[in-house]
Amino acid sequence: MADVHAQRMDRMYRHQRHLYDATRKWYLFGRDTLIAGLDPPSGAHVCEVGCGTARNLVQIARRYPWTRLYGLDASGEMLKSAADKVARAGLEARIALRAGLAERLDPAATFGVAQGFDVVVLSYVLSMVPDWPAALAASVRALRPGGALELVDFGPIERLPWPLAEGLRAWLKRFGVTPRPQIAERLRALAAEGAGHAEVATILGGYAILGRFVRAA
Ligand SMILES: C[S@@+](CC[C@H](N)C(=O)[O-])C[C@H]1O[C@@H](n2cnc3c(N)ncnc32)[C@H](O)[C@@H]1O
Repeated sequence: MADVHAQRMDRMYRHQRHLYDATRKWYLFGRDTLIAGLDPPSGAHVCEVGCGTARNLVQIARRYPWTRLYGLDASGEMLKSAADKVARAGLEARIALRAGLAERLDPAATFGVAQGFDVVVLSYVLSMVPDWPAALAASVRALRPGGALELVDFGPIERLPWPLAEGLRAWLKRFGVTPRPQIAERLRALAAEGAGHAEVATILGGYAILGRFVRAA
């Protein structure tokens, strides 16, 4: 099953990866807001799960030069673009890239970060992961106590005007994307269980959800 999903992602992105950054900037909204709102402490270890082309990782590295970064992605094809981008930016010494599934993220085994991450970023990835609750749980487990999960993804798009919502849903389906408005409830449930503190907001009339979960110290 795991390999099947990775192969699906490779088929999806083998050609698209060349156009990915130029096209997605028109509809993956909220990523720059998320990046601007990060508050990584000195020497922070920051991991993006489902890092794609490393577009976000490179921006985070430039904006927060005191951080060390890690990118995980299921698709080896996407990671080829990520490696090119990181090399062009001259950031190989600060950004490590690995192939793997979000559901199996283990900071020590995957990246040698035994204490866990200070920040985990999930940007438009849970909407592509079939077992998204497992991926979310693994990301929370990967945080050090007091660490922050920062998330942006498609929101409750049914709140958008009907033709827009239907058109967007059909368009996203072509790319294997299913909006997961339940993410907000899941983050709030984790907070209610005492695992940490959650903040969730929607932007652009429900188009996207921005979430932060700070793991209990
Ligand atoms: C829509 S792209 C988002 C890329 C990047 N986060 C961004 O904001 O530009 C989703 C990425 O998640 C990856 N992905 C999908 N399922 C995954 C999984 N189960 N584990 C890790 N990565 C996954 C895909 O290969 C793809 O690169």
